Amino acid sequence: MRIAVAGATGNIGALTVAALERGGHDVVRVSRSLGVDLVTGDGLDDALTGVEAVIDVTNGPATDPAEVVAYFGAATRNLLAAEQRAGVRHHVLLSIVGIDRVEGNAHYAGKREQERLVAAGPVPWTIVPATQFHDFAAMVASWTQQDGVATIAPLLVQPIAPADVADVLAEIAVGDPKGRYADVAGPETQDLVDMARRTNQALGREVKLVPTWSGLFGPSMAGNVLLPGEGARIAPTTFDEWLAAQR
Ligand SMILES: NC(=O)c1ccc[n+]([C@@H]2O[C@H](COP(=O)([O-])OP(=O)(O)OC[C@H]3O[C@@H](n4cnc5c(N)ncnc54)[C@H](OP(=O)(O)O)[C@@H]3O)[C@@H](O)[C@H]2O)c1
Repeated sequence: MRIAVAGATGNIGALTVAALERGGHDVVRVSRSLGVDLVTGDGLDDALTGVEAVIDVTNGPATDPAEVVAYFGAATRNLLAAEQRAGVRHHVLLSIVGIDRVEGNAHYAGKREQERLVAAGPVPWTIVPATQFHDFAAMVASWTQQDGVATIAPLLVQPIAPADVADVLAEIAVGDPKGRYADVAGPETQDLVDMARRTNQALGREVKLVPTWSGLFGPSMAGNVLLPGEGARIAPTTFDEWLAAQR
């Protein structure tokens, strides 16, 4: 199949391209650095020629809710319209478990806008809600790190290996559209502070972590809100297995 990956140069995008190519598919890579911009629409029609399915794993700005919603909204509208013109039969969106249960998170507001537009849009779709990735904890800590100190919320998560997410997306894209897919998660719950500490140790980074609910992630993200629901699809790779491969 000819399948486009929007966000092909990103963390999940590059792994998704690799998973599709291992399956023998013809992959079209979409990103601004490769000359295609979802927000302006530049290069989209050419990129989608002959494409049967599109996987959207793009990302957007992180902080201002209105800006994030506008960015994901414009990108999703342009992408879906171009898919309709090209006769694309399946739009696959990577989303996040629990975004409807959390207020005040700008990125989640943008993801909800993506989901809303995809579900109401003209192209048959599958929305795949995934939990946080195994590399999420150290990434979050790096956002606030200054002079060897970083703040991080002690979120309860059930993280998943990026490569496992990519494998699921590649499998879904070649099948029929399924609407809202089951939550996709890793095999074990983890504390985000512990994950960040262990990742930094494994990578030889000396960072003092200060747990807090006063940073980017507030108390509305505490408790079980980020955990997968009933009937979740559980991917195999544990955090420890992933961590061992990072050293
Ligand atoms: N991190 C987590 O734990 C987690 C968990 C569940 C779901 N997710 C979701 O996973 C998705 C992908 O995350 P990621 O970490 O893989 O992202 P990433 O590494 O930041 O990659 C984002 C990709 O999007 C492309 N992109 C951004 N704006 C674009 C535009 N206007 N037009 C075309 N391409 C554009 C980027 O390339 P250029 O810069 O070249 O354009 C890049 O290829 C996100 O939507 C996120 O919500 C993340």
